[in-house]
Amino acid sequence: MIEHSSHEIRQRFLNFFKERGHKILPSASVLPENDSSVLFNIAGMQPLVPYLLGETHPEGKRLCSIQKCIRTIDIEEVGDNRHLTFFEMMGNWSLGDYFKKEAIEWSYELLTDKEKGFGLDPNRLYVTCFEGDEDASKDEESASVWKSIFEKNGISTNRIYFLPKKNNWWSAGDNGPCGPDTEMFYDVAGKYTEGLDFDDYIKADDRGEVVEVWNDVFMEYLKKDGKIIDKLKNKNVDTGSGFERIVMMIQGVSSVYDTDIFKPALDKIESLITNKNIAEFEKVKSARIIADHARTAIILLSDGVEFSNTDQGYILRRLVRRALRHADLLGLAPNSLYMLADIFTDYYKDIYENIARQKETIKVAISTEEKKFRKALTQGIKEFNKIVEQNKKEEKESIDSQKVFTLFESYGFPIEMIEELAGENKMTINRVEFDQLFKQHQDNSRAGAEKKFKGGLGGDGEVELRYHTATHLLHQALRMVLGEQVSQKGSNITTERLRFDFAFDRKMTDEEKQKVEDIVNEKIKEALPVNMVVLPKDEAIESGALHFFADKYGDNVNVYYIGETLEDAFSKEFCGGPHVKNTSELGVFKIQKEEAVSQGVRRVKAVLS
Ligand code: ALA
Repeated sequence: MIEHSSHEIRQRFLNFFKERGHKILPSASVLPENDSSVLFNIAGMQPLVPYLLGETHPEGKRLCSIQKCIRTIDIEEVGDNRHLTFFEMMGNWSLGDYFKKEAIEWSYELLTDKEKGFGLDPNRLYVTCFEGDEDASKDEESASVWKSIFEKNGISTNRIYFLPKKNNWWSAGDNGPCGPDTEMFYDVAGKYTEGLDFDDYIKADDRGEVVEVWNDVFMEYLKKDGKIIDKLKNKNVDTGSGFERIVMMIQGVSSVYDTDIFKPALDKIESLITNKNIAEFEKVKSARIIADHARTAIILLSDGVEFSNTDQGYILRRLVRRALRHADLLGLAPNSLYMLADIFTDYYKDIYENIARQKETIKVAISTEEKKFRKALTQGIKEFNKIVEQNKKEEKESIDSQKVFTLFESYGFPIEMIEELAGENKMTINRVEFDQLFKQHQDNSRAGAEKKFKGGLGGDGEVELRYHTATHLLHQALRMVLGEQVSQKGSNITTERLRFDFAFDRKMTDEEKQKVEDIVNEKIKEALPVNMVVLPKDEAIESGALHFFADKYGDNVNVYYIGETLEDAFSKEFCGGPHVKNTSELGVFKIQKEEAVSQGVRRVKAVLS
């Protein structure tokens, strides 16, 4: 086994695909752009969806990246040996270029080559392929590529299995590009180097003895509302694997927390533990939760998420408060998360420029949130104890949902924490009822957010295209009326409305709102064409095109402009598209609401009719 640092493994992966003609893309933000159906990017392919659907990528047809991803759906699993709320996904893509043969051969080489790849033992690899159904036929092609690879390398071939859609078909949700995949598994303990019969392989998989190490998806289908409705313009390849898991296997450790990504933080936590009366497994779990959540919080803050009670801001709050709660269980001194932030920002400073740049702001934000939480906690715990006393008197086991909601809403207790506190007092809460109350009280509820996770990618239906183009018009109109300090902080589109967050420090007047509406409607009436041009990044910046996440672009970028020529365009922005062809398609634009999101950030909701 190669003893390599995670930084070296990162470089090794990128070099491997660079040498094979791939352009390295910087990671996009964890916040998806113009996609209302997910709160965060959950896979490396997500920022590439427009290109998988057929748009031309400015960097060409062969791409690779290590993309920041967030999956809070697994939050309860954090603390075991491999679940994380933040992970980085390595992946390579072919946009209508190479297909199954090259993709599989390269995956094999990447995983097993000792010089250029990860040096994993080829005798411990297992692969699964799609068994076929009414949407696509059995993937004999992938299986035969695998068979010849194994034969060529003198490895037994009873390690290729066919499985149904449930296992070997990949999409990011109910809508978007998808296709059959071939998945690679690794026998972590090296118990089965001679290969396995199908039944024994399934048993080994159930026992977690084989762990997925890579996935090649052959994306040539389009899914809408859960059904395959069409073929894509191109036959694409989308591959990926979790960086932390691969590092764990290469470094030969049994948990992601034992890799050099986490080790320094966990050592630090260990040195700070003062509570000696805690069972070893509880200690390990809490320490891992603290490390995981602190790391994720840093990533979220660096990508511009702010603490709040809705959407991404709520997830951030929930992670930090949950980490603080576990810090208290271990008896860590106050401000421990602030110290951990130092360790993680150090690790990522050469990888993510926005972490290096914002290191101090990130630490202060965490520390301020801790102070807020502690204040609420002192008051909230008193309130909670009263509820418990009352319940005991009445011999009630379940805590009244309205009271749970008050703890959540007025005292800022994360719901998991209330659940845990209730558990410690041998009481229960009714989560379904709580969710209902939560939904009633919040415009953009967390319940809705969870639904967004499940929903996956939104389609790029006509209505959404119109809202996307309207967002560009709005952005420019706001800058004309309010000044150049207006810059995009977030954008979210549904089939009902657009939502646009921007930096601005006060409420807009009615007159200003009217002016913005008038400008947008005028540009719609002028029937301006929407065009796209690929430019080297520097040239694009020079053209005056708006861009707000400077560190995530590659050497070449797509600039969408609204107007006849780039020079005279009304609006120019770095953007992945897609858009309508002409502003005349938009209809009538109306601002419905203008409100504050946080200090210095305003939100406009607008509709087209
Ligand atoms: N998009 C594929 C995955 O996330 C590669 O597994």
